[in-house]
Order: sequence, then C-alpha cells, then structure tokens
Amino acid sequence: MRVGAILLLLGACDGNMVQQPRADPYEASALLPDGMVMQSPPPGTIDQGAPVRAQAAQRPPMSLALLERGRERFNIYCAVCHAYDGSGNGVVPGQGFPHPPSFHEPRLRAVPAAHFYEVITQGYGIMYSYADRVSPPDRWAIAAYIRALQVSQARRQVTEGGDAD
Ligand code: HEC
Repeated sequence: MRVGAILLLLGACDGNMVQQPRADPYEASALLPDGMVMQSPPPGTIDQGAPVRAQAAQRPPMSLALLERGRERFNIYCAVCHAYDGSGNGVVPGQGFPHPPSFHEPRLRAVPAAHFYEVITQGYGIMYSYADRVSPPDRWAIAAYIRALQVSQARRQVTEGGDAD
C-alpha cells in the first residue's frame, strides 16, 4: 500500500520535472527587447575576465630565475600531492585522497606548457583551482618547472638504460 503511494507520487513528479516553465536563452519573447529571451550586455559593460586573460597571454621568456621561482612555488603548493619529482606520490595521496597522475606519463609529456597553466587556473577533475594562491606569472614559472622535471626524469631513464618515453 505504502509502496503504491510512493510510486504514484514519483509518477507525478516525473511529469512536472520534464515540463518546467522556463525560458531558453535563444527563445523568442514578446515581452523582452529584441524579441529574444537572451539580452545583450548594456553598452559600456566591461568584461572583467579580459585583463586576466591578457595577463595570462604574457608568457615570460624562459630563464634560470623563472625555473627557480617555479621550483619554489611548485614545492610549496603542488609537491604535497604531486611529490617533489612529479611522480604523484606526495604525502597527501594515499591518506584517503587519490593519487594524481605522474607528470612523466606520455600524455602529460606531450601536452603544451599552457595546459599546466590552465590546470593551475581552473583546477582539473577533483583538483582545486590554485588561481587565488598562484599569480599568473607564477603559473608560467611552475609550468616551466614541470617541463624541466619531465626532461630531467626522461634523461635519468636514458642513463639508467630504461625506456626514454
Ligand atoms: C591536494 C592535492 C593536490 C595539489 C596540492 C595539487 N594537485 Fe594537481 N592534481 C591532483 C589530483 C588528485 C589530480 C588528478 C585529478 C583528476 O584527474 O580528477 C591532479 C592533476 C593535475 C594535473 C594533470 C592534469 C591532466 O591533464 O591530467 C596537473 C598538470 C596538475 N595537477 C598540476 C598541479 C599543480 C601545478 C599544482 C600546484 C599549483 C597542483 N597540481 C596541486 C591533486 C593535487
């Protein structure tokens, strides 16, 4: 009896959820200006993301100072999970937190440095964004340092007679 009542309720819910009264952005509207639901921003509106994107586009040239800054920032913010060598075996993973991928796997060796910049800015999967802690120039410094870690690890594999990939 009780199960029957719940099933009846669920049935009613389903109908209502599918047919919610709402307007889609590109839908025509008799009420709104331009005859469309989605409205253009008023004249003079400033895109707040523009200065950030412009700064992000300014990738600093590679230098020893950049790499040193990157190593310092990486060791502060990233190594707890990604480990000092980028293997993903930091102190946090394994304590109920999943292991990040190794920076030495072929896919992450092949991505452009801008991918590391993006991951720091946006976060990635379960990894949080570090945009509020790592400034755009420091994101490039860390990206450069990750590249250096990858190169150093590939070298070691070659000298040890392992596979260079
Ligand atoms: C609290 C642990 C933690 C910290 C700190 C952390 N990460 Fe991650 N990171 C992860 C995890 C976990 C993943 C895998 C996320 C997933 O696949 O859902 C990841 C993934 C990544 C990836 C791989 C993205 C891909 O394409 O697979 C990069 C690159 C990365 N992190 C860079 C960084 C950098 C740079 C920092 C420091 C600014 C950092 N992470 C700090 C846990 C962390």
